[in-house]
Amino acid sequence: MSTEPILKTENLWKLYRAGKVEVPALRGVNFSVQPGESVAVMGPSGCGKSSLLYVIGGLAQASRGRVLVDGNDLTAMSDAERTKLRRHKIGFVFQRFNLLPALTAKGNIAIAQYIHGDGFDPHRFDVVTKMLGLEGRLTHKPAELSGGEQQRVAIARAIINEPKILLADEPTGNLDTKNSEVVLMMLRQLNKELGQTIVMITHNPEATTFFDRIVHMRDGVIVDGIPAD
Ligand SMILES: Nc1ncnc2c1ncn2[C@@H]1O[C@H](COP(=O)(O)OP(=O)(O)OP(=O)(O)O)[C@@H](O)[C@H]1O
Ligand SMILES: [Mg+2]
Repeated sequence: MSTEPILKTENLWKLYRAGKVEVPALRGVNFSVQPGESVAVMGPSGCGKSSLLYVIGGLAQASRGRVLVDGNDLTAMSDAERTKLRRHKIGFVFQRFNLLPALTAKGNIAIAQYIHGDGFDPHRFDVVTKMLGLEGRLTHKPAELSGGEQQRVAIARAIINEPKILLADEPTGNLDTKNSEVVLMMLRQLNKELGQTIVMITHNPEATTFFDRIVHMRDGVIVDGIPAD
């Protein structure tokens, strides 16, 4: 049985202007993700991984081509429409955790529910924080948490509003081996037990064992399935 992809790019280009020259970061990417899939994107530094993630997440504008998120064409939207779609359908996690230092772990997660507009949902909060092993850490502020714990709070914040897709840009990039493994295990659990669709960029070869599919990028394109010349 075939299902519609939750995410699809068609001949996606991203050009950055640097003075008089244009830097092509994406050069015709065709990429799709099925609902419930976990995909790891790998490739050398500068090959366009972050650019791809930012364009599919609506944080940056495509230069050419189309991006479809849950059937909605991001490239046909105004900035305001794209922001709204991002808020409702996408969760982001970055290498730097970007938590609010004055709030507790609980505050950092709950604030996302208030911003989203539906208010605090204790059931969802419990499910997510338990799955991320944060029950005993909720009253701590970020400075009182380990890097691995801070990243787990950031992941909880990203998925608390049940986004269609979780996008993660090197979420284990600032973590030691042990914490990286814990975070990867928890991402896999979110995928398998809650059905969370995940697209994660990583340089960590170990990630391949935790994710359904690995996609390789080089020079602004996806190279899987393309014969080497
Ligand atoms: N804001 C920008 N302005 C100009 N060029 C940019 C900008 N952002 C990225 N680039 C360029 O686009 C290309 C792709 O960058 P991108 O950040 O997507 O790579 P990456 O695969 O995520 O690399 P890394 O593994 O180092 O994070 C690089 O050549 C980079 O220098
Ligand atoms: Mg990057």
